[in-house]
Amino acid sequence: MPTIRLPGLIDPHVHLREPGGTHKEDFESGTRAALAGGITTVLAMPNTQPPLIDSVSLVLAEDAAARHAVCDYGLYLGASGENIYTAKGLAPRCVGLKFYLDATFGPLHLKDLGTLRAHFARWPADRPIACHAEERTLAAVLMCAWLEQRRVHICHVSRRDEIELIRDAKMRGVNVTCEVCPHHLFLSTEDIPFLGAGRSEVRPRLALKNDQAALWANLDVIDCIATDHAPHLPAEKDGPNPPPGFPGLETSLALMLTAVNRGRLALEDVVRRMYDHPLRIFGLPEQPDTWIEVDPDATWTVRGADLHSRSGWTPFEGWTLRGRVERVTLRGREVYRSGAFNVEPGAGRNVAPGTQSTGEIHP
Ligand code: DOR
Ligand code: ZN
Ligand code: ZN
Repeated sequence: MPTIRLPGLIDPHVHLREPGGTHKEDFESGTRAALAGGITTVLAMPNTQPPLIDSVSLVLAEDAAARHAVCDYGLYLGASGENIYTAKGLAPRCVGLKFYLDATFGPLHLKDLGTLRAHFARWPADRPIACHAEERTLAAVLMCAWLEQRRVHICHVSRRDEIELIRDAKMRGVNVTCEVCPHHLFLSTEDIPFLGAGRSEVRPRLALKNDQAALWANLDVIDCIATDHAPHLPAEKDGPNPPPGFPGLETSLALMLTAVNRGRLALEDVVRRMYDHPLRIFGLPEQPDTWIEVDPDATWTVRGADLHSRSGWTPFEGWTLRGRVERVTLRGREVYRSGAFNVEPGAGRNVAPGTQSTGEIHP
């Protein structure tokens, strides 16, 4: 079948676990998974160990990424009570400031409204803020954004009430963008018995069929498709305290192309949400010499054992998807072809504005 050429995709929400959780994933395994999934830029979340909240932890992550990443990347700074006055100085080296406003995996839960407002007032107006904010917390974030007259990006919207609130806020001029994950578009609470209790743990939780339908019905409100790739080992997911999260980098595009094949949306709708909008929202550099070639008709069956993520499992085990990534060209160089990589660790570049001139490790 003839292949189609698309821009290298941008995933604005990825957990790569380095430093501190490299038994689950590291910059190399996670960015290999990205390339295999047609994603050439990943924006990595700060809920690492240590959490990425100051210049010491930022240097640790920058150094690890510079040495190991095989696709392009950016790093988020985590908002905490400790970095209200120092975050701004690190903004040029980050792709955004991330707020964890509801309980989830990792140490970065920010609970008080005063800290939230203080960060919203100080973080540079032209740099992105991304929020994990569910239900009523979402309303609080939108209010803060409105009061500061600044833009805000809402991560992994999963419920009807949330997408409808964002729709209303957009209509009234609140400067808000949002992302939805493939797992909330394709799975619901009805899948929990088949996945098992531990394996289906994710934050936000899998929602009702009614919520899932609302996401599809409000596609026009959804700016980005983001994986929230959150790798944990099968033994952890099946253990007594299952951590929340699904790997998603290698199934995201194929799930969306399968939906295109079923007539649920157009190919352009996918490209806008997986390339154009993330590029614009996060102010990333255009990369005309980075592209992917995809066979939109090829079918393949998802097997956790075949994936490149260290987590080694997938909630879509056994699903037959349509659309396979055949080739990936990263800044003029073919780095992936028919399942084989031709790229060395460290080939990925930092896309944050204050790091691009050198692409080197920061002192
Ligand atoms: O399910 C999730 N897993 N949701 C999050 O917000 C964090 C993530 C993780 O880091 O594992
Ligand atoms: Zn989250
Ligand atoms: Zn996340």
